[in-house]
Amino acid sequence: MQLKGKTILITGGTAGIGLEAAKQFLDHGAKVIITGRDQSKLEQAKKTYPALTAIKSDIADEADSISLFNQVKELGGIDILYNNAGVMIASTNMGLANDRHLTEALYEMNVNYTGVIRLNNLFMEMLKSRKESAIINTTSLLAYVPSTTDATYSASKVALRFYTETLRKHLEILNSTVKVFELLPPVVSTEMTASRKGKKITPEVLVSQLIKGILKDKLTIRVGDTKIIYMLNRLFPKLAFNLVNPKTTYASLKQ
Ligand SMILES: NC(=O)c1ccc[n+]([C@@H]2O[C@H](COP(=O)([O-])OP(=O)(O)OC[C@H]3O[C@@H](n4cnc5c(N)ncnc54)[C@H](OP(=O)(O)O)[C@@H]3O)[C@@H](O)[C@H]2O)c1
Repeated sequence: MQLKGKTILITGGTAGIGLEAAKQFLDHGAKVIITGRDQSKLEQAKKTYPALTAIKSDIADEADSISLFNQVKELGGIDILYNNAGVMIASTNMGLANDRHLTEALYEMNVNYTGVIRLNNLFMEMLKSRKESAIINTTSLLAYVPSTTDATYSASKVALRFYTETLRKHLEILNSTVKVFELLPPVVSTEMTASRKGKKITPEVLVSQLIKGILKDKLTIRVGDTKIIYMLNRLFPKLAFNLVNPKTTYASLKQ
């Protein structure tokens, strides 16, 4: 599908992958609306890229999501809903069996999974009414192989991956023109992974692969190491698990 002339809503567009996507979509001739919870980050993004429209909105909050839908409708609507906002709360900080673990797992599910469903439902009729439209859901390499240090985050991304596949099929059965893309990043150098060592790709590289995929209508967009882990997991699942979970991470799990 083409990006030129399209209007794209990016949730969580004030930092990391979302902000880079805003920049590259603008460069491709799209109009871009971004969201985030922090007003100062929204203002900073607008200062950097004045063509952006920035709306304060928390994807985990139902009233915020409805208000976002109404504001976007007032602005003329969108062609692409890019569900990018996501959170990862390191489970090493909370242990496995305590109340905080549950509270934080619920929050991850709310932002990474149910918040996406809520927005997709709100925007579905608007997207269906467009000539060429799409939803982009952001899952992860960890939706193929779980990380023991980010157990609940991995689980939230698996939920989103299965939902994404079935949403795509459902829309196909209904002969809908709304395309459903899935972006599966490897480890990307952003605030979310700042404390992590090891191999990371830049948001620039990830987003350029996303755009290449969209332009070619490649619905499942696996980038970098996600491609390798995907194949390895099919053939040698134990090896794939050990690569994602090297023994050096065991020490933190014993705390
Ligand atoms: N970085 C990686 O290695 C990696 C790998 C695989 C998948 N991903 C996924 O890629 C997406 C982007 O990750 P990132 O690394 O760019 O994250 P990031 O650098 O932490 O940025 C997250 C963005 O989302 C916003 N956000 C967080 N919670 C929100 C909420 N409840 N409602 C609205 N906006 C919210 C943040 O702004 P505010 O804080 O102001 O709300 C920020 O703009 C996420 O879905 C993540 O799970 C990342």
